Amino acid sequence: MSKHKLVLTLRDASIIINRGAPFSLEFANKKQTHTVFDSSKLLFEKAEEGEGFSFSVDFQGSTNLYGLHHHADQMTLRETTNSDPYRLKNVDAGQYPAYSTNSLYGAVPIVYGHSKKRTTGAFLLNAAQQFIDIGYNEKTNASAHFLVEGGSLDLFVFYGPTFQQVVRQFVELTGKMHMPQLWTLGYHQCRYSYKTQDEVKEVVSTMEQNDFPMDAIWLDIDYTDGKRYFTWNPETFPDPVGMQEYLAAMDKRLVTIIDPHYMVDENYPVYVGAKGKYFAKTENGDDYQANCWPGTSSYIDFLNPKARDYYASWFQFDKFNGSTETLAGIWNDMNEPAVFGGDESTFPNDIIHYGNVKHRDIHNMYGFLQTKATHQALMTRDKHLKRPFILTRSHFAGSQRYAAMWTGDNAADWPHMQVTYSECIISGLVGHVFCGADIGGFFNNPESELLQRWYQAGVWLPFYRGHANDNTERREPYVLPEDAQVVVRNALKTRYRHLPVFYTLFYLHVTSGDPVVRPLFYEYPEMVDIDDHILLGSDILAAPVMEQGGRTKTVHFPGDKNTYWYRADQPKGNWTVHRGGTVETFDVDLETSLYFYRAGSIVAVSDNKRTSTKGLMSDHLTVHVNLDPHGTATGLLYSDDGVSFDYQDKDAFCLLKLQYKNKFRFEKIKGNKKTTYSFDHVVVHKLPKTGNVASMSIEKAVNE
Ligand code: NOJ
Repeated sequence: MSKHKLVLTLRDASIIINRGAPFSLEFANKKQTHTVFDSSKLLFEKAEEGEGFSFSVDFQGSTNLYGLHHHADQMTLRETTNSDPYRLKNVDAGQYPAYSTNSLYGAVPIVYGHSKKRTTGAFLLNAAQQFIDIGYNEKTNASAHFLVEGGSLDLFVFYGPTFQQVVRQFVELTGKMHMPQLWTLGYHQCRYSYKTQDEVKEVVSTMEQNDFPMDAIWLDIDYTDGKRYFTWNPETFPDPVGMQEYLAAMDKRLVTIIDPHYMVDENYPVYVGAKGKYFAKTENGDDYQANCWPGTSSYIDFLNPKARDYYASWFQFDKFNGSTETLAGIWNDMNEPAVFGGDESTFPNDIIHYGNVKHRDIHNMYGFLQTKATHQALMTRDKHLKRPFILTRSHFAGSQRYAAMWTGDNAADWPHMQVTYSECIISGLVGHVFCGADIGGFFNNPESELLQRWYQAGVWLPFYRGHANDNTERREPYVLPEDAQVVVRNALKTRYRHLPVFYTLFYLHVTSGDPVVRPLFYEYPEMVDIDDHILLGSDILAAPVMEQGGRTKTVHFPGDKNTYWYRADQPKGNWTVHRGGTVETFDVDLETSLYFYRAGSIVAVSDNKRTSTKGLMSDHLTVHVNLDPHGTATGLLYSDDGVSFDYQDKDAFCLLKLQYKNKFRFEKIKGNKKTTYSFDHVVVHKLPKTGNVASMSIEKAVNE
C-alpha cells in the first residue's frame, strides 16, 4: 500500500485517507468505495463578511440522489448543471412555485445517494445559507457540490447499506420525536383567521352537525390584541375561557399562533420584559427592530438560554391570561425569521446573537431554536404530563424533536397538491415524520374538484389540516355543494378509520426511526421516480388522483410475483387483488381514491361513527386479515393513554402482535398494559384461485 494511503477500518466499514494535496477521503464497505470527499474541490474563501467554503461529495454507483429538504420539487434531486442549484436558506417563501429548487422555510443539508444495490448519506451539520449543485454522470455516479456561506465544515457520512439503515443512522444522530398525542392525528380546521369567538363555536358545531369529524380548531394572528402575542382581542374574544369550555365540551382542542416577533410597545409587558436583554441585536448592540405583523417589532434571540426561559414563561397559565388546558397546541409561524421588506424578507446577516454569534452562521436554525423554547414552555406548563404539540413553519435538522411541520404557503393548484407528497415523504426520510400541507392550498380559491382530491390525498399524510388565506372564499367542508361534501366526509372518515394504523406507525418510528409514510423505494429499492404513490408503513399503498379531470389512475404495484395487494377502498365483499411488479390502470370517479393492503398484513381499523378521536383507543376494531399465498398474515397494533409520557417512563403501553394461521390470534409482545382496544369482527380476505376478486369470510374475534 502506498505510504500516502491510510486505511482506518471498523468491522466492514473503512475510511481510506489519500494523503497529499489534494487529499481525498473514500468511504468504503468491504473495500468497495461508495462515497468520496474530494478536497480538490475544497475551497475556503474569505468573503467580506466572513469565511465561506465549497466541496464535493461523490456517491459512486448512485442513480438517484434525495434529500436537501425542504424544496417543493420532484422526489429525486434533479441535475442542476444547466439550472439553478438547490438553495438552503430559510425564507418566508410566500407564493413559492411548485417544482422548483428555490429555498423554502426549512433546511436539512443531507443528501442520500441511492441505487438498487445500496444507499449512503452525507450530512453537513451547518446552518448557514448554502447552494448545492447536483450532477449525474451517465447515471452511474452522482455528486453534490456544496457552496456554503459560513459556519464550519462538519460532515457526517452514513454507510447504509439500505435506505432503511441510512435513515435510521441519520435519525440516530439528529433525534426523534416523542409520541404525538392521539388527537393531533385527527383533522385540524384552520383559517386565516377565524375572527371572533362566536365564529369559532359556529364552525365547530356546524362541522359536527354535518358529520365531519375534527379534533382541533386553529386561531391565526387575529385573535390577539393588535398582534401582541399572549393577549386576546377584547372586542372579538371577550371570553376566551368560555370559548374553550365550549370546545372542550365538544371534545375539541384549540391551537393558537405565537410568532417570534414582538411589538415595540412600552405598554406591552412581553416586550418590556425582553427589551435590551432578550432580543437579537444589531452590530451596535441595540435591539434589532424591523417590520412584521404588529408593525415595528423586535425578535427574541432564541440562542440565548435565558431568552428561551423568558419566552417560555409567557405560556404559563398565569401569564397567558385566558389560556386553559384546551389550548392544547401552539403554532410557531414566521420563524425563518420573517421580516417585512428588507433583504429577502429575513434578518440581515450581520445581526448578532447571544455569545457574539453572527446570524449569518446560524440563520437556518432560528426556527428550530424557537420550537425548542416552545417545547420547553409546554412541558413546564403541563408539568411534563402531556406530550407537547407544536407546529412550525421553519425547521432544521433535528426540529422533529420539538415540532411537527407543514409546507407553508402553497397555492390552490394541481402542481402544488402533487408536490405535497414529495415534500412530506422527503421530510420523513430526514427524520421529520410529522408533516402535512395546507389542504386546498393557502393562496387562491381551489376549484371544487381540486379541493376534493386534496382532501383524499391528504388522508395519507401524517398531519392533516385545512387552511386558507384571509382573502379566500370560505371552504370549510360544510359550505361545499352536497356532492363534494360526500367526498370530503368520506376522506375524513377514511382518515379516522386508519388512525390505529397511524398511531402504531408513530410508535414504530419513535422506536426505530422508520418514517410513518414512505416512498416505494424505501421498501422496494428499484421503485424510484413514482412520486404520486405513498406507503403508509409497509402495509398500505395509496395512489390518489392528483390530476385535474383524472378519471383513470395508473398504479405501479411494488414487489415481485409473490407480492399481492388487496384493493381496500371498495365495500368489503368487492375487494380485488393485484400482483406485485405489475402496472394497472383503474377507472376512478370523483368519489374514488385508491388504496391497497399488502397481502400478508393485518390492518386493524376503527369503523365506528365518531366526531373526534375521543374514545378511539378503546374502540371495537375491525380486523382486516389480508392473507398471503401461504394463508398467513401478521400485523402490529399499539395503544397507550394517548396523552402522557408514561409509555416511555413506565412502559405503560401495549404492543400487540396480530397473527393469522387458520385462525386469528393476538398476543402482547411489549409494554406492561393490556390493550385498550377490543376486536369486534375479523374479516379474512383470501387470494382467489382464478381471476382477481378476493374471497372473504367474517369471523368473530376472541378477545384477550
Ligand atoms: C404565514 C403562514 O404561512 C400562514 O399559514 C398564516 O396564515 C399567515 N402567516 C398569517 O399568520
